[in-house]
Amino acid sequence: MRLRRWKSALAFATLGDVMNAANVPDLPAMPADIASRWMLDPRITFLNHGSFGAVPRIVFDAHTEWRRRIESEPIERIAPLRGGRGLLEEAKKPVAALMRMRGDDFGLVTNATEGVNAVLRSLEFKAGDELVTTNHVYNAVRKAMQYVARRQGASYREVVVAFPTRGEDEIAQAVIDGLGPRTRLLVIDHVTSPTALIFPVARITRACRERGIEVLIDGAHAPGMLDLDVPGTGATYYAGNLHKWCCAPKGSGFLWVDPGRQRDIHPLIISHHLDEGFAIEFGWQGTRDVSAWLAIPESLKFLADLGWDRVRQYNHALALWAHRWLPDRLKVQQCSPADGHLLGSMVTLPMPAPLDSLDETQALAMQRRLYDEYQLEMPLMVWNGRCYLRIAAQVYNTPAQIERAASIVEKVVNERR
Ligand SMILES: Cc1ncc(COP(=O)(O)O)c(C=O)c1O
Repeated sequence: MRLRRWKSALAFATLGDVMNAANVPDLPAMPADIASRWMLDPRITFLNHGSFGAVPRIVFDAHTEWRRRIESEPIERIAPLRGGRGLLEEAKKPVAALMRMRGDDFGLVTNATEGVNAVLRSLEFKAGDELVTTNHVYNAVRKAMQYVARRQGASYREVVVAFPTRGEDEIAQAVIDGLGPRTRLLVIDHVTSPTALIFPVARITRACRERGIEVLIDGAHAPGMLDLDVPGTGATYYAGNLHKWCCAPKGSGFLWVDPGRQRDIHPLIISHHLDEGFAIEFGWQGTRDVSAWLAIPESLKFLADLGWDRVRQYNHALALWAHRWLPDRLKVQQCSPADGHLLGSMVTLPMPAPLDSLDETQALAMQRRLYDEYQLEMPLMVWNGRCYLRIAAQVYNTPAQIERAASIVEKVVNERR
């Protein structure tokens, strides 16, 4: 049932939020107290779930409880041959079920950056081999690729994927046309960070397999945002985050590897269990705090109880509404097709002129100002020489918050005109 229930969440919107009735999107119903199930400061208009996620209170408590349990019996809880391995296997089960993975085919890591690095730094490249990605790549991943290429005498190249984009055909074609005879590895985002697009990864992996090119999917944003079948993507390697759209504690990510390639892929930390099996190696990387991983099931249960479909529908509908309504309001162009088929729970739009020409330092200062003066947490990013804003929609967000963000952007833009 799709009801106009956003008003129930208005308690979370800050003073000054005014909704124009004509602008109300259709959103699935959410419990009236949804926003207060998170710990976010209600004085802040928080439109940046995309960067680090945010944990619901109940997940925070479960995480804290795991820390307490570990400290009450450190050996029993974390030593792999005592309780540790079993606890991690239990924690992995709902992750496996959600993303259709076999438990033995993925390991838990701290974040997507670690997963990507584990793959890149396990692979061997020859002089002349090429590591390819797109110009939408996340900067930390770009650096890791450049580092590995530099150390092994390989080369690094970015294929240009146009933005604004006309649709997935254009994206798939640009990437496939950009593969070369020396391309050994393609790193492709599932959901891009600066431009917030869902890339058609299955089409791209198919083309790569036909050419004998391995594919590492950077799925930092996809788990939870998309109904994800990790092996079904056709990737050779898939690194994902759970602390973003699965709302797990920070420090929760995973790396899935095609069974045929697991022998060659090792964690960044080589420890006791080298060559004893992919999942076992990843299960012990030295003494560390595994409490975030052990709390993952609580976050998945929290979202499952709300209803995964409902959560995704709400987030997508809100992002789609922003995608359709904000460009008119701010007099900027839409950057992907109006039907929203390339959008999940986020949307990127150019800042209105003249703020679209802010450089990185100025964009950072403006973001800081939005926070300090207006208590608006919304990322601004400079990509390909232009400054963009990105709106993330999580179930605790409301249309009123997005309208408030629009009013603030208009205000700071008008000051510059
Ligand atoms: C596309 C993409 N890749 C990788 C990352 C890195 O995530 P983390 O810092 O959790 O490793 C991010 C973070 O926002 C991202 O958006």
